[in-house]
Amino acid sequence: MKKVVLAYSGGLDTSVAVAWLRERYEAEVVTLTVDVGGGSLRSGVADRAISAGASRAYVVDARRQFVEGFVRPAVRAGALYQGVYPLATALARPLIAQLLVEVAHREGADAVAHGCTGKGNDQVRFDVAVKALDASLEVVAPMRIGMGLSRDQEIEYALERGIDIPVTHASPYSIDVNLWGRSIETGVLEDPWVAPPRDVYAWTVDPSEAPSPVEITLGFEAGVPVSLDGRELDPVELVETLNELAGSHGVGRIDHVEDRLVGIKSREIYEAPAAVVIHAAHKALEGLTLSKDQLRFDRLVAAEVAQATYDGLWFSGLQANLREYVRTAQRVVEGEVRVRLDHGTSAIVGRRSPNSLYDHALATYDAGDAFDHASAVGFIAIFGLPLRTEAGRQDGASWATPLLDDLPLEVADAEAVLVG
Ligand code: ARG
Repeated sequence: MKKVVLAYSGGLDTSVAVAWLRERYEAEVVTLTVDVGGGSLRSGVADRAISAGASRAYVVDARRQFVEGFVRPAVRAGALYQGVYPLATALARPLIAQLLVEVAHREGADAVAHGCTGKGNDQVRFDVAVKALDASLEVVAPMRIGMGLSRDQEIEYALERGIDIPVTHASPYSIDVNLWGRSIETGVLEDPWVAPPRDVYAWTVDPSEAPSPVEITLGFEAGVPVSLDGRELDPVELVETLNELAGSHGVGRIDHVEDRLVGIKSREIYEAPAAVVIHAAHKALEGLTLSKDQLRFDRLVAAEVAQATYDGLWFSGLQANLREYVRTAQRVVEGEVRVRLDHGTSAIVGRRSPNSLYDHALATYDAGDAFDHASAVGFIAIFGLPLRTEAGRQDGASWATPLLDDLPLEVADAEAVLVG
């Protein structure tokens, strides 16, 4: 290994990794810092990389590409891992991996590196994505192959080498952040019975301390949000604005015991105000604009996309094909959704669409009902035919446990009416 491109956050671990890679491999180290929003970009990061011994430090603002190329496909697909996790960390990994590969090519590097441990999902995502894009690149993870220093050792290691280390307090948690969400783990959270302490949260207020409820309107086009309260916003701004707004109402906290790819159950806390509201609103609009069969099939697609995204398989042919299917299927998911933000909850209170499949004349019980009630008789006769046949020949009544004999019962008889 002669030249390596390291995914660099500017934190203590990756700062030490710059020096460690240089000393251990006598390699030239180029760092890559990707701004994926949500406060992921630390100030002075390039200077710090150089002070740690990097020969060159790239800093890339990839927020727009992150939202357009990764977050939006996940929204369209309704991708929530195990039904709850909006996949913030998982979605950013393939983007960062791709940029690592592109910078490696530009730099003529023969390896890339990342600061993941050997126990999590992120190492798998980086390794698998990098190898999918260029199998000739070596992937090095210092934390996985012996760098493993304690925090105090890392500080000492950095001070000895004159590395400008970040002057932040040691967080009791391991935190990953981007504009789609904050992921928090370790510390007291490792006991799944322990309620998350206040200091876990940075984007959401305690729901009991939220201000009076508000109602917002999210506008969608082709399955993705494009406006807030009638105002068109660019994709990054929309997510950032909604994070702030929904977070200020305590919306977006997720407490999840999740199944990691490496076989471990792990307690995770997420803060994802925009993601929670957008997914809920998107689902409500799908209910109005997609057919019953599309909705049923898309649940399968959502689960498949979520699992594969979680598992780091973003760059597989199947996933690319599914994203294409979803993109065309979502063409009609257009309209507006009203959402009420109320002390930690986001309730859907209204939806409308030019492509709505909801037909008031068919649905109403009031005057103007256009549904043909008499036709229901013929429909039911045919629909119920196989069950009638089966029940008649195979003692269908035997599937029902008798109820009446075991129930407390009152019987009132009509009094005899005497005439004359
Ligand atoms: N469990 C989540 C995932 O695998 C989040 C991991 C976040 N990493 C962290 N250092 N907190 O996507």
